[in-house]
Amino acid sequence: MTEAILLVGGKGTRLRPLTVHTPKPMVPAAGVPFLTHQLARARAAGVEHIVLATSYLAEVFEPHFGDGSALGLHIEYVTETEPLGTGGAIRNVASRLHSGPEDPVLIFNGDILTGLDIRALVATHEESGADVSLHLTKVEDPRAFGLVPTDGTGRVQAFLEKPQTPEEIVTDQINAGAYVFRRSVIDTIPAGRPVSVERETFPDLLASGAHLQGMVDSTYWLDLGTPRAFVRGSADLVLGRAPSPAIPGRCGDSLVLPTATVAPDAKLTGGTVVGEHAVIGEGALVDGSTVLAGAVVEPNAVITESLIGEGARVGARTVLQGAVIGDGADVGPDNELREGVRVWCGAGLPAGAVRFSSDQ
Ligand code: GTP
Repeated sequence: MTEAILLVGGKGTRLRPLTVHTPKPMVPAAGVPFLTHQLARARAAGVEHIVLATSYLAEVFEPHFGDGSALGLHIEYVTETEPLGTGGAIRNVASRLHSGPEDPVLIFNGDILTGLDIRALVATHEESGADVSLHLTKVEDPRAFGLVPTDGTGRVQAFLEKPQTPEEIVTDQINAGAYVFRRSVIDTIPAGRPVSVERETFPDLLASGAHLQGMVDSTYWLDLGTPRAFVRGSADLVLGRAPSPAIPGRCGDSLVLPTATVAPDAKLTGGTVVGEHAVIGEGALVDGSTVLAGAVVEPNAVITESLIGEGARVGARTVLQGAVIGDGADVGPDNELREGVRVWCGAGLPAGAVRFSSDQ
């Protein structure tokens, strides 16, 4: 049975302040730490042994997932003494693998939400006889990504850094963050120093004549690296647009965890999640948003595509649109916070302090 490595040690800088107290893979999406969805999907594809490569806030993973038996998995944890980057992290866990030199090993970035057919990726790898196989996805605007052009047989031709000009956009295929490595290839990654699999390992392998195979799979795919994407991904899980066997309830317009309190006339729409012990007050409207455990949304607040951190408070009539409120922050009543604003953990905003429009 194929085993897997999950890369979960990144600092998640783009997601701050959500990642101040919580590593990105442990931030809840659709009511459970995001990583749960990936573990459950890997298990559903037949994976039984998973090694988590941890670094930033490494201590929180094992108390939550233990030996993995609750998910039908055997999970091991390997913590880097200093961050080794994506390639270094893969190399660093090699001693925990049971696979033989020719066997395929799955590797996943810990922040991708996708409906990828994992078995098909392994099958592609075995049929093509590649050294490494990569899931590629097509995006409308590839400018923010590294491009991976392939030939007619799917063999990777190049790894191109973020394209600057229209002429440089030679393909709409990007690296989607899921790979199959022939086990012996992992052993060739240099040990004991930081290595980027995207910027160093893949280009080096290509230059040395290795066979890298791309598999384009155009199902649901989202990199949850930014607050906007994270909130979108959580809502898509709740709405059933993104597949996961780990959603704690039925898919629908909203997901309210059993210990939360929601006023009867509050409206929860667009895949909104209300976490454990959170409170939604009378007349509040919450659309496409995530309200984490213990947070309080006071009456008549209007919240769209936003994330409210653990134990945070959003005052009465406050309007949030595309906002992130850090853990324990206290946003007073009658504020208006829009597009991309990040309120830091524990910060306090007095009543009526910030607006994006006139108050009259
Ligand atoms: P940003 O800082 O916002 O870019 O996020 P990130 O730190 O998660 O980096 P990135 O999205 O590029 O990382 C891709 C995947 O590799 C994520 O699942 C990270 O958790 C993981 N990762 C990145 N760097 C390391 C590392 O040094 N060690 C380990 N174990 N994992 C890493």
